[in-house]
Amino acid sequence: MLKKLAVAAACALTLTSYAAVAQESTLVIKLSHVVADDTPKGQGALMFQRLVDERLEGKVRVEVYPNSSLYGDANELEALRNNEVQMLAPSLAKFDQYTKQLQVFDLPFMFDDLEAVNRFQKRAKGRQLLRSMEDQNIVGLAYWHNGMKQMSATKALRLPDDAAGLKFRIQNSKVLDAQFAQLGATAVKMPFAEVYKGLQSGQVQGAENPWSNLYSQRLHEVQPFITETNHGVLDYMLISNARFWYGIPHQIRTELEAIIDEVTYAVNRQAEEANLADRRRIEASGKSQIITLTPEQRQAWREAMRPVWQQFEGEIGSDVIKAAQVVNRKRHD
Ligand code: SIN
Repeated sequence: MLKKLAVAAACALTLTSYAAVAQESTLVIKLSHVVADDTPKGQGALMFQRLVDERLEGKVRVEVYPNSSLYGDANELEALRNNEVQMLAPSLAKFDQYTKQLQVFDLPFMFDDLEAVNRFQKRAKGRQLLRSMEDQNIVGLAYWHNGMKQMSATKALRLPDDAAGLKFRIQNSKVLDAQFAQLGATAVKMPFAEVYKGLQSGQVQGAENPWSNLYSQRLHEVQPFITETNHGVLDYMLISNARFWYGIPHQIRTELEAIIDEVTYAVNRQAEEANLADRRRIEASGKSQIITLTPEQRQAWREAMRPVWQQFEGEIGSDVIKAAQVVNRKRHD
């Protein structure tokens, strides 16, 4: 009993000290991310900063650090858990270490399109996943879209065999590693900030990215072929340090949550169009040839990568996979 009371007192003290910052002075929220300002996530971060500035002036200040300028892929999640930065929006592929369930988003050809992803994120199972890392001091606040991933390389990829023998840069995800192994390719984990150099130097010959990341990082300049595979999704979870977040005075937190809802709506409504605009820019640049797959070719990619589902079903949970599968309009047997 005494031990329990001591733990409760220690927790209360921690929350109070996190919150104290908010009560006595301006609460500073550092929001760090790894992409450019001119992307769905970059724009979302800036809109969050602007609305907080307009509505909570003097109470809360948001500092945005884009392009891995404060923390990068290698250290941002640990920095968040240590409260050195208070908000991040990592790609859903980067949470492997903290929860296995989110790997569902990396399964190849799991979602037909961004609409299907959206439906899953809004349903009970998707909402539940926002809370899947609270025991690790990470609280999910919202899902933000980027877009569907396209496969790029130094050679034209029309069929899965075309990828065999190539090295592809991947995010830090075991599912993505397995996906490329299915193609007879080698996956190389690399922080986002190093992708351009990795491709330019020939350390890797291919990658998978949504149009907005391809264009904003100028990856199309070092990838002469981009195949419109739409084989997976690259979305984000806006997260905070749980102790910090729950320590914010209730009224301020409620206002922050309302702003996040507004920003999330705007990001998710504009992400698809932003990606299509970047696709047009890449096409107009003439630097990279965009390859459109026939339905038969796309089916061949789907079949080649499908064994990855069985490989990860145990870790992710068949309930999560089923809940994700039913959001597609078409059946894929
Ligand atoms: C991001 O969009 O945050 C980066 C994703 C990646 O590492 O490929």
